[in-house]
Parts: sequence; C-alpha cells; structure tokens
Amino acid sequence: MKIFILGITGKVGFRLARILKERGDEVDGLYRQTDQAQMLASIGITGTFGDLMSIDPQRLAQAMQGSDAIVFSAGAGGAGSDITEAIDGNGITKTIEAAKLASIKRFLLVSVFPEAWRERHMHEGFEHYIKVKKRADIELTQSGLDWLILRPSALKETPGAGTINLGVAQLHTEVSRDDVAATLAALLHTPMVSRKILELTAGNTPIAEAIDALTTI
Ligand SMILES: NC(=O)c1ccc[n+]([C@@H]2O[C@H](COP(=O)([O-])OP(=O)(O)OC[C@H]3O[C@@H](n4cnc5c(N)ncnc54)[C@H](OP(=O)(O)O)[C@@H]3O)[C@@H](O)[C@H]2O)c1
Repeated sequence: MKIFILGITGKVGFRLARILKERGDEVDGLYRQTDQAQMLASIGITGTFGDLMSIDPQRLAQAMQGSDAIVFSAGAGGAGSDITEAIDGNGITKTIEAAKLASIKRFLLVSVFPEAWRERHMHEGFEHYIKVKKRADIELTQSGLDWLILRPSALKETPGAGTINLGVAQLHTEVSRDDVAATLAALLHTPMVSRKILELTAGNTPIAEAIDALTTI
C-alpha cells in the first residue's frame, strides 16, 4: 500500500510513517524544512519538499500521484489564527482538491473533539481552532471521497498502551500519540471502515479489536 502523509514530520505523522514503513508500506509525505530530509531518510523515506501554505493543488496532486490513501495530520500548532486558517482549514481544502486531481479516494483526517473542554472558558485562539477544524471535517464529509475522520482527545507523549476507546462518541480525556499513530495505521488497512467520524481516547480495548467492532456499525 502507498500512503502520502501531510504532517509527516509531526509528532503523530512521523510515528505513523515509522509504523507503516515497518510493516512494509510505501510512504511519502510533504516536508517544509531541508533538514527534515535526514529525519525522513532515517526511516527510509525520501519525502516531497514543499510548504502546504504555498504549494498549489496541481503540484500536490503530482506529489501524491499513485498513492492509495492520504493521511492529513498537519496542523498549525497554535501558530496564530491566520496560519490555523491556512493549514488546518485551507490546507485541507487544497489537499481534497489535490486528491481529486490525483484520483485518490481514501482520505484519513486527524481532527479534534469539537466538544472538547466546553466546561472550561477557553481563549479565543482555541475557539477559532475548533471552528476551523469543525469546518474542515464538514468539508471532507461533503467531498465525495472515501473519507474517515479520527478525532483524538488531548495528545500525550506517554508511551502507547496498544489499547484504546474508539467510537462515534467518546468522553474527551487524553490519548498517547503512539496509540493515535497505531490506530491510524490499522485504519488504513481496514478499508471497510469508511465515512465515519470516530473519537479516540485512552482505553482498555486492544486496537485491532476496537477497529473490528466498527466494521459492524
Ligand atoms: N495537541 C493536541 O492535544 C491535539 C488534540 C487533538 C488533535 N490534534 C491535531 O492532531 C494533529 C497532529 O498533531 P501533532 O501533535 O502531530 O502536531 P505537530 O507535531 O505540531 O505536527 C504538525 C505537522 O504539520 C506540519 N506543518 C505545519 N505547517 C506546515 C506547512 N506550512 N507545510 C507543511 N507542513 C506543515 C508540521 O511540519 P513541521 O514539522 O515543519 O512543523 C508537522 O509535520 C494536528 O492536526 C492537531 O491539530 C492535536
């Protein structure tokens, strides 16, 4: 299987790339800083140099050509509302357009719990981030692609447990990035799980079992 990752140098994206390479998949992705080439090469990935802010959909489509699936795990990471719009919002619009140009149907998006922290008074930047993410989710669901949206709760650097809670509605808590990456890798290899918005938290169900349970809903 050939997978193209937006956000391949990120904390989730790089973990995912490593898991996929270890299991024999072909992996490519967009990186924007020349020194990241070495990091990707360390796990056998060449990568495609480019910036999601400036790359045009035609060039992105060319880079993704021949992939079986796209994973979008890029994010502005609190860099300001304009950059959030450009990456977490328009970055997805652009990637959907490129996917269509390259005739790639399968599109996995790493999103967020839009209902996260409703009990707290969050700052304007966070509320804007949630709005942009929610808009991107909706855009992908209306794209006509073979989409799947994964909403992890607060991401942690703790080692993965290999067990999760995964379903259409979960309580927002936290989850290890290792487990997010392992779940994405397993979902990529489970094509019958499609056109669903799934919420992911730490939990006690082995990842394969949690995904198996989804094939019946
Ligand atoms: N933090 C949380 O608790 C949380 C919770 C739920 C969901 N999420 C979402 O989960 C996703 C992955 O999170 P993460 O922790 O892996 O984030 P991360 O480590 O900040 O990774 C973000 C990725 O996006 C890339 N990126 C940003 N701007 C770019 C640009 N202009 N062109 C190309 N690539 C660009 C980054 O590249 P560089 O390496 O060059 O910066 C990096 O690869 C994000 O979409 C985030 O919104 C986060």
